[in-house]
Amino acid sequence: MRAGGSDPIREAARILAERGNVVVLTGAGISVESGIPSFRGSQGMWAKYDPMEYATLHAFMQSPRKVWEMLAEMVSVCGGAKPNAAHRGLAALEEMGVARAVITQNVDGLHQAAGSRRVIEYHGNLDELICVSCWKRYPTRDRWTPGSVPLCDCGEILKPNVVLFGEPIPWLAQEQAEEEARTCGVLLVIGTSAQVSPACDIPRIAKESGAAVVEINPEPTPLTASVTDIHLRGTASGVIGAMVRMFHDPDMRSPKG
Ligand code: OAD
Repeated sequence: MRAGGSDPIREAARILAERGNVVVLTGAGISVESGIPSFRGSQGMWAKYDPMEYATLHAFMQSPRKVWEMLAEMVSVCGGAKPNAAHRGLAALEEMGVARAVITQNVDGLHQAAGSRRVIEYHGNLDELICVSCWKRYPTRDRWTPGSVPLCDCGEILKPNVVLFGEPIPWLAQEQAEEEARTCGVLLVIGTSAQVSPACDIPRIAKESGAAVVEINPEPTPLTASVTDIHLRGTASGVIGAMVRMFHDPDMRSPKG
């Protein structure tokens, strides 16, 4: 199934409408237009901070103050960011009964801020801090201020409750994401380079379970030539915005299940 018509976005929207049970998988690319840098590429976080030094559990356990240099930047950038047209468009597709869930690798909370209700946070959320010694949790805003390193009541340095390299995916998010992938009619993959496991397995699980895979990304990814049925080469806000306008046409809307 390749986008053969003159308007691949319309063709993809028709597949969403016909198949129904649309599940969305998002990555950092969807939040770029909200001013949050992605991870890979020349402008990405990993060009500035070597992930082996700043984004592994081992690095945090060895040098939490150093890792907090990077975390502080993420918390303040994400804390000031607002949802963009792509986040709002996905919330609108859920409201219309077209999309049923968003699985996100992002830790910025922007899907919920835009109004999406069923959001599976695969890599956690920066809103919460956790103690790696006594497991006590705190809202980030209660314990962290710019320039400080947040401390637990037990004296340990707190870690954002996000998945660093070397940490497992939270089991409930993993279970729910796999279930969504196994049972969806279409997986809409937006703004991920699909290079990080196990998140990059989700499209394969969906495909092997019979779903169509539609990818929205200005660039090709490892998925594009393997599991993707339709690659919509554009920005998240541009493509989702166009799709939402199409779904306002009652002829397009025949959602299932
Ligand atoms: P990446 O930074 O690896 O990839 C971002 C993707 O977004 C790229 O494929 C870009 O082409 C695409 N992109 C850029 N601008 C876009 C736009 N306006 N609209 C749509 N797409 C756009 O980010 P992720 O794939 O999300 O995990 O990274 C996955 C994981 O790696 C992250 O969750 C994080 C990171 O290390 C952990 O830290 C555990």
